[in-house]
Amino acid sequence: MAKKNLVILTGAGISAESGLKTFRDSDGLWEGYNIEDVATPGAWRKNAKLVLEFYNCRRKNVSEAQPNTAHYGLAALQQKFNVQIITQNIDDLHERAGSKNVLHLHGEIFKMRSEKNEELTYEIRNDIKFGDTAEDGAQLRPAIVWFEEPVPKIEEAIPVVNNADIFVVVGTSLVVYPAAGLINYIKRDTPAYIIDKNIPYTSSLYKLTTIQKPATEGVKLLTEMLDKI
Ligand code: APR
Repeated sequence: MAKKNLVILTGAGISAESGLKTFRDSDGLWEGYNIEDVATPGAWRKNAKLVLEFYNCRRKNVSEAQPNTAHYGLAALQQKFNVQIITQNIDDLHERAGSKNVLHLHGEIFKMRSEKNEELTYEIRNDIKFGDTAEDGAQLRPAIVWFEEPVPKIEEAIPVVNNADIFVVVGTSLVVYPAAGLINYIKRDTPAYIIDKNIPYTSSLYKLTTIQKPATEGVKLLTEMLDKI
């Protein structure tokens, strides 16, 4: 029998127990910075050095972090389901836990690109320095989707969500669009689960089960629930 399509939308909350801070749990500051000062095209134009420094620190944090049992638990679901993860996270903890199909809506911390041409993308494990250039001579920047920038991968994500037999949301406040709007593409009769310490508000999920727990505990409970269907 064909495996069911299990589609999982994740956000910063799944990596919180790996020691990576979420965005909105800390007074509007992200690791001590205003998001507008580090994660917008305007910030880049105003102070590229600061933006590079900020993401160099994030890259170091991610390198030092380890996947937690929520990441591993979702990867284990691949045995029984055809799992597609759609993540807003820029870390690689899903991949390191063994998930095969991971779509990064907001870019990846271990990639960099020309500031002029997003086709020119490269791997980066260490720091990006001011003055480092791509093949086209333009400054290299993190290959991250900033606020006010388009989210090209959303087009790929919509049909995936639409084809879900089961849909799961883990650790996202569902406030940033277009990612948050993905839940509107779930078919009405598709069972949905939300795992979060604080369940975000939704109005469009009809067969919803909420699991108000930290991600590690929540994924364990989800796995038990999915074992029964
Ligand atoms: N387990 C489960 N959920 C948790 C945990 C945890 N241990 N810790 C925090 N959470 C939940 C919070 O309750 C919240 O709902 O994770 C969510 C984190 O929300 P945000 O900080 O808003 O992160 P996210 O939804 O991923 O942000 C979306 O915004 O800043 C931009 O581009 C950035 O991808 C990011 C996007």
